[in-house]
Amino acid sequence: MRRKLVVGNWKMYGRLASNKSLLEGVIAGLSGMNAAAYAVCVPYPYLHQAQEMLRGTSVAWGAQNLSQFAEGAYTAEVAAGMLTDFGCRYVIVGHSERRGLFAESNETVAAKVDAAIKSGLTPIVCLGETLAEREAGITEQVVGAQLDAVVSVVGVAALAKTVIAYEPVWAIGTGKTASPAQAQAVHAFIRQRVAQQDGQVAQGLCILYGGSVKPNNAAELFSMSDIDGGLIGGASLAANDFVAICRAAQN
Ligand code: 13P
Repeated sequence: MRRKLVVGNWKMYGRLASNKSLLEGVIAGLSGMNAAAYAVCVPYPYLHQAQEMLRGTSVAWGAQNLSQFAEGAYTAEVAAGMLTDFGCRYVIVGHSERRGLFAESNETVAAKVDAAIKSGLTPIVCLGETLAEREAGITEQVVGAQLDAVVSVVGVAALAKTVIAYEPVWAIGTGKTASPAQAQAVHAFIRQRVAQQDGQVAQGLCILYGGSVKPNNAAELFSMSDIDGGLIGGASLAANDFVAICRAAQN
């Protein structure tokens, strides 16, 4: 059976003081809970703070982006090796906000996934369609192409070292969650597409759902057979909400 995983994506929120109380709440709320795995992906400047506070707890930490390059004259970019220096286990790659607002292509996302894996980070690879794409009936085409672009660069076996996050763009930050059945259908599609190339990798693949996951809808989403946990935006900024969602992944 796959172990569930719940990851908070803080996006560009937080300051030293508010992070401290948020992490204290999360640590206290999750202490003694280990049926699932938990992590928070924080803004780069707070990686040190996360490392200092989360070391030795059941909560892992990570970043929200990385460069596809190992080092070089790339002003303001952050390399995978810099993230491992700060003890990161995870890095979010290809979030729809990166794809949409910062023009990250499928090819760039694939190169970043490759860079993350080569440094021993676990990339959380985000896939998802826009509302227009869903309404046009091309969700599987879009998500399939996003997935294929990654597999064509890293190979299907390397997917065993990744986490996939299905995040329909229309459900992110909108309060409009995909129904458990809608999410399950896309998760099953993703797993099947991987299974066409490697059944064992597909079976073990952790596929998170993201998009307006809240304490009141998490349990139902997480009960679906191909949903292995969540990538949580807004609700990860309130310790009680995040802990409640993590608790829903225990059961
Ligand atoms: P919300 O949970 O705020 O909808 O954000 C989801 C998300 O983008 C997580 O990466």
